[in-house]
Order: sequence, then structure tokens, then C-alpha cells
Amino acid sequence: MEQQQLTTVVQKRRTFAIISHPDAGKTTITEQMLLFGGVIRSAGTVKGKKTGNFATSDWMEIEKKRGISVTSSVMEFDYQGKHVNILDTPGHEDFSEDTYRTLMAVDAAVMVIDSAKGIEAQTKKLFQVVKKRGIPIFTFMNKLDRDGREPLDLIGELEDLLDIEGCPFNWPMGSGKNLQGLYDLRANRIELYHPREASGRFLELDAAGHLPDSEPLTQDSLYRQTLEEIELLETAGNPFDAQKVARGEQTPVFFGSALTNFGVQTFLDEFINLAPAPSAHELASGESLAATDPEFSGFVFKIQANMNPKHRDRIAFIRIASGEFQKGMDVTLQRTQKTLRLNNATEFMSDQREQVQSAVAGDIVGLYDTGNFQIGDTIYTGKKEITYPALPQFTPEIFMRVTAKNVMKQKSFHKGMQQLVQEGAVQLYRNYQTNDYILGAVGQLQFEVFKFRMQNEYNTEVVMETIGSRIARWIDPEQLDPKMSSSRSLLVKDLADQPLFLFENQFTERWFENKYPDVKLTAKL
Ligand code: G4P
Repeated sequence: MEQQQLTTVVQKRRTFAIISHPDAGKTTITEQMLLFGGVIRSAGTVKGKKTGNFATSDWMEIEKKRGISVTSSVMEFDYQGKHVNILDTPGHEDFSEDTYRTLMAVDAAVMVIDSAKGIEAQTKKLFQVVKKRGIPIFTFMNKLDRDGREPLDLIGELEDLLDIEGCPFNWPMGSGKNLQGLYDLRANRIELYHPREASGRFLELDAAGHLPDSEPLTQDSLYRQTLEEIELLETAGNPFDAQKVARGEQTPVFFGSALTNFGVQTFLDEFINLAPAPSAHELASGESLAATDPEFSGFVFKIQANMNPKHRDRIAFIRIASGEFQKGMDVTLQRTQKTLRLNNATEFMSDQREQVQSAVAGDIVGLYDTGNFQIGDTIYTGKKEITYPALPQFTPEIFMRVTAKNVMKQKSFHKGMQQLVQEGAVQLYRNYQTNDYILGAVGQLQFEVFKFRMQNEYNTEVVMETIGSRIARWIDPEQLDPKMSSSRSLLVKDLADQPLFLFENQFTERWFENKYPDVKLTAKL
């Protein structure tokens, strides 16, 4: 591809993830977007768990059994001249480190909040990861068709709980049964919840932001209340600041109802315009590499095994960070300096996989892998070595002690363990004193997947004994005294032999901190 053409197509990419707490409406809004993108024709296509529609994808067996999606898949569509990539972030019980890692491969995030519930636990966790990256975050306050919290309250919560400024782009006129519409501050119009035959979906406002006196809605007390709130926003609210949005310090806020498809298109239109195209990526050296650099480079953010159980294959998900990917190209795997020919690449849609011929910075490709790749690996073309920084590790929250059921199977047990840990399926720790294996994960399902795969791929039955939910905190080895360990503050070491404590709860952690005031404890992301 010519340089100019590469620049043009990269500029069209919009790659993002939706972060939310389960049931806030992520699937519903994703579906609406796919409908606008012309990828699906009816709602209920994505949500396999309720329609039983997931049979078309040959995801892992465990996934089918449970009717949930273990994998973060990628959905692509073209919309208003842009090429959109939505990376799915599994929630519910399938919340895992993959959910976090996916956030390392996007250029923006959309945060969906249930307007009746406000900011919930999982949203908060995912938000912290995105915030740390300093990428733009857009907020959709969902379920406006139900009675929810006061909009001002919801905006206030963004600042109080997430420490991010909220800048409303539209404002609800009523909610639940009284929902009349959205006052659109950007387009200076009102979007009606019940469009009228005569005037259609939108009522234009005058330069002062008012409806003409002849409009019956002006008699509605909700309209007058909305005008008062808008006035308040204009004097006391956060003015839109594109720089702050770009750094993730301010979030444009949209209200709407995904289920009734109200406000979704307005949101999508604004989002597509404001969300960034792929930009330069920072390298491990501290330099940065432009997305439009002619050399291809990318990094592995996820490895998915056994998508097709018949073939025992693994797929490495690559975020293209620069240049263009072409089928059959030769690349260097930075870690080993080996040359690999990329013949078999796959583009993702949640229920279909197509062979990809070419893709550019911002896109995600899946490469069939026979064990070459590890999470965080960089691949590139050209003579100049390119290395992307290691992906962050996320602090696991639940732990299990694990052993092989059959002692004769130690060899395959160790092999399976080593490979699955390398793949990032779970994190491995050893008891500091006894060297027992302890697995850590951020979601329960990671253990189930681990157990299932040990059995299916390595023919090893494992015994898992729960340690439960723990707070993991690393300690400087210099400050460590093994006597500090107890069953309530279990001392273990990670793969790099770094010591850490697994505290039973916050109380034990505080107790420890009081007892050893000079000891510094740190969490990962
Ligand atoms: P998730 O992916 O974030 O977990 O949420 P999902 O879209 O599955 O939505 C969770 C529930 O909330 C679903 O109802 C969905 O229909 C509903 N929902 C989503 N958006 C809205 C909205 O704007 N208004 C209202 N009133 N409900 C909304 P469910 O009963 O769990 O499932 P279903 O049987 O209706 O599919």
C-alpha cells in the first residue's frame, strides 16, 4: 500500500472497547451499533446466551456448555466512512485477565452505566485500567426508559468515584414513563422519545437554545425544568475540553436507552467523530512509532487456545500498531529473533471468521499459532528492531492451591501448567516455604478453564483447593522476614521469584501495616 493510502486508511480506524458492569446494557448497545453498521439485521444475534444463537461459532466446549463467551472477540463494521473495531470485554462470570488485557489493545473506551444503579464495581475496576492508559473514555448513561437517578447525581458520581470530569453532550427530559426526549447540547435540538408524524424525531432550537413558543412542549413543566438544568450546566458544569478528553481526564456523557434504540445513533455519530484514530505507540525504549510507519509491527495481547477443539490450535490476537499486515508476509518475532511467515490470519466477527488478506494499524488479526507466541510479544518487519513494552500484570483476586490427582502424571502436569501459565490463562505462585503451586486469577472462570484444559489437552486431572479471595501485595525482598507469614497473610513468590503476601482481607492487611509500619506493600494494576 502506498504511504498516502496507508495514512488515509489508518486515519479511518476507530478501535475501542465497551466497559461496564454486567447487565448495564453492553450487549444491547453493541447490537444496536452493529445494526447501524449493517453487520446484523436483527437484534438478538450477538447475545447467544439468550437466543441459543452461538452455535455458529466453534468456541471452546466449556463456553458452549455455559452459554457464555469466554473469548474477547472482535466485531468490525464500516460506518460513516470509518472502519470500526469493537473489542469485546467479557464480563459476568467470564471476567478474566483477558478482559483487562483487551483494554491494552484499544484506542478509546465506552463506559456504559445503568442510570438507575450508577457506577458499579466492575465498571470501576475496568475504568482504572483504562484511566491509567490515558486514552479517551466516553460515557453512555443507559436505561433512560426506566426511572433512574438524577442526571446531575450521575455526573457527580463520575467525579466522586472515578475522578474524571463529566461533560454532558445531551440531557434527558424526564425518565421512565415520563421520558420526553433528549436535549442535545451539541446539535442544538431536542430528540423526541416519541417521534411525531408531523415534525419527525428532532425539534430544532433557536440560538438561545429554546423551542419556538408555538411548540406545545413548551407548556410541559419537564421542558422548563430541563432549561433550568441546562442553565445550571452552562454556568457550573465542565466546559468541553478536547485536550482533556484525549488524555482521559474528561468524559463526554450521553444519555439514552439502548433497548429502545433511543440516543444510540446520536451517541455513535459523535463518538465516531471524536474518538481518535490509531496514534503513535510507545516502544520499550521510550521512543514512539507512528501508526502510519511503513513497517508493520504489532503485539500479542491475548492467546486463545482450542477455538476449534478438533484442531487443538491456538490463536494469537495481534493488535497492529503500525503499518500494514499482509497475508503470507515474513515478520521477526522480537523475543526469539526468529522469522515467521504469517500465512494463516483470521479476522473476527463474533459468529464468523474470515480469512484476512490485509489489515492496517488499529485492526486486530488472529494468527494461528503452534506455540510460537507469548502474551506481550512484538512482531515486526524491517531491519530495525521494534519492541513494545511488556503488558501490565493484573493483581489476581482469587486463589487456589493445585496438585495433580495422579502422582504418576507429574510430567504432563508440569508441562500443562507451564504452557497455560505462559499463555496467561492463570497466574502461578509458589508457597514461599513449601513450594506448593498456587494459582491466581481475577475471575472464577479462569480456574474452570484451566481445569478443563489440563484434563483435555494434557490429560491430567487436577485437584484444586480453594484459598478464596485474597488481597495480593508485593513486598521488597530486602524488607522480607519469613516470620511475617501466617495463614491469614500467606507468603508466596511469583514467577519472577518476587515475594508477595496474600492477605485474607483488608483487616489483615491493615493489621500487617500497623505491625510493620516501615514495610512498603505494592499492588499491580
Ligand atoms: P450486559 O451485556 O451489559 O450484561 O447487558 P445486556 O445488554 O445483556 O442487558 C442486560 C439487561 O438489561 C437485558 O435485560 C437488557 O434487555 C436490558 N437493557 C439493556 N438496555 C436497556 C435499556 O436501555 N432499557 C431497559 N429497560 N433495559 C435495558 P434482560 O431481561 O436481562 O434480558 P433480555 O431477556 O431482555 O434480553
